[in-house]
Amino acid sequence: MVASLYIKTDLENVTDLAPTDDCEWYFKDIYEISGSRGSASLVMRCKFCKREGTAQFEPSFKIKKYNIEQNGKFQQIAQFDCRGLELVDFQPRDSWLAKGAESDTVFNDIDLSEGEWAEYDEKSGEPVGIIPFHERDYWESRFKKEKHFEWLLTWKDIQSEVETYLNKSENILHLGCGNSELPFDMSDAGYKRIVNIDYAETVIRRMKAVTQEKQKDYSGLSWYTGDCLNNLISFLPHENYTTVIDKSLVDTIACSDDNLQSNTKKFADQVLQVTTVNAVWISISFSNERIYNTSPSSTFYWKTEKKIPIEVHQENDKPGAPAIYYYIYINKKVQK
Ligand SMILES: C[S@@+](CC[C@H](N)C(=O)[O-])C[C@H]1O[C@@H](n2cnc3c(N)ncnc32)[C@H](O)[C@@H]1O
Repeated sequence: MVASLYIKTDLENVTDLAPTDDCEWYFKDIYEISGSRGSASLVMRCKFCKREGTAQFEPSFKIKKYNIEQNGKFQQIAQFDCRGLELVDFQPRDSWLAKGAESDTVFNDIDLSEGEWAEYDEKSGEPVGIIPFHERDYWESRFKKEKHFEWLLTWKDIQSEVETYLNKSENILHLGCGNSELPFDMSDAGYKRIVNIDYAETVIRRMKAVTQEKQKDYSGLSWYTGDCLNNLISFLPHENYTTVIDKSLVDTIACSDDNLQSNTKKFADQVLQVTTVNAVWISISFSNERIYNTSPSSTFYWKTEKKIPIEVHQENDKPGAPAIYYYIYINKKVQK
C-alpha cells in the first residue's frame, strides 16, 4: 500500500519547507524510520501474529516542499510504500529547512519538535516562523503550557486611539481573547462589562480562575468557550452588541483562508449577526491589508472607517532596524 504524507501548517515569511537530507522520520509511538531518504526503511513484527511489516520511501517520489502559496492547506511532502503496517500520526522533529519568502536567506536548522518555530530574517527585516495558528489543537496545547502572552499590542498602546469608540455602560464583546490582559486593563479603565470568547476550552477555564484569583473586582468580565466561525450567536449571553474587539483573532482566521478569503468573510458575517446597526468593530492586526468583506446576500456590511498604524519596537531591535507597525481597524456596521 502506498501511504502519502501530507502536512498542514502556517508559514510566516518563509517558504519551501522540507526535511533535510539526513532527517529522521517519526510516526506514532516513535516507530523510527532511520537512514537517508533513498534507503530509509522500517521493519516491525506484530507481537501477536509475528508477521513482519515494512515501510520504505517510494523511490520514484521526489520529496516535495511546503509552499507559502498554499498556506494552511494540506500539501504532500513524502510517499511511503507500506507492507503489512500502517503509518499513523506523523511527528515532525528537527532537521527541516526553509527559505525566506522575501529574501534568499536559507534557514537550515529548523526544529519542529514543539510544533512551531520562529526567527528573524535579517535580510528582509521580517519575523519568520512556522506556526499552525489555524488549528484549535495548537491553541489548546499551547494554553496548557502558556500562562500569559500578549499578541501585537497592549491596552496602553491602543487606549488613546480606541476610547472614542467605547462606551463604559455597554457590554463589549471581545473575540479570541486568549490569555491576554486586555480585559483586566480595560476593566481597570472603567469598561467593566466585557464578554470574552475563545474556542480553546483550556484558556477559558484558566481565565475564569485568574479572574477569581485577582484581588480586584472583575465580576463584570465573563468567559465563554465558542467558535467565532460557527454560530457565534448561540453561545453569547446577550445579543446586539454595540462594540466588538478582536486582537489578532482576524489574523489567526486569515491563516486558514483560501483565495476568496472565505473564512475572514465568514467571521465578518458572524460578527454582523451579533451586533446593532452602527456597531463598531475594533480589529487589531499585524497586516495593513485586512479586508472585512461580508457575504453579498447580507443587508449590512463592515465599512472600514479608519486604519490606524501603531509603531512598535521589538526587544532585540538593532540600531537602524526598520520600523514595524501593527494596525487598528475601525469598522462600522452600515446598511448597503
Ligand atoms: C493570536 S491569538 C490572540 C489572543 C489575544 N487576543 C491576544 O491578543 O493576546 C488568537 C486567539 O484566537 C483564538 N481563536 C482562534 N480561532 C478561533 C475561533 N474560530 N473562534 C474563537 N477563538 C479562536 C485562539 O485560541 C487564540 O486564543
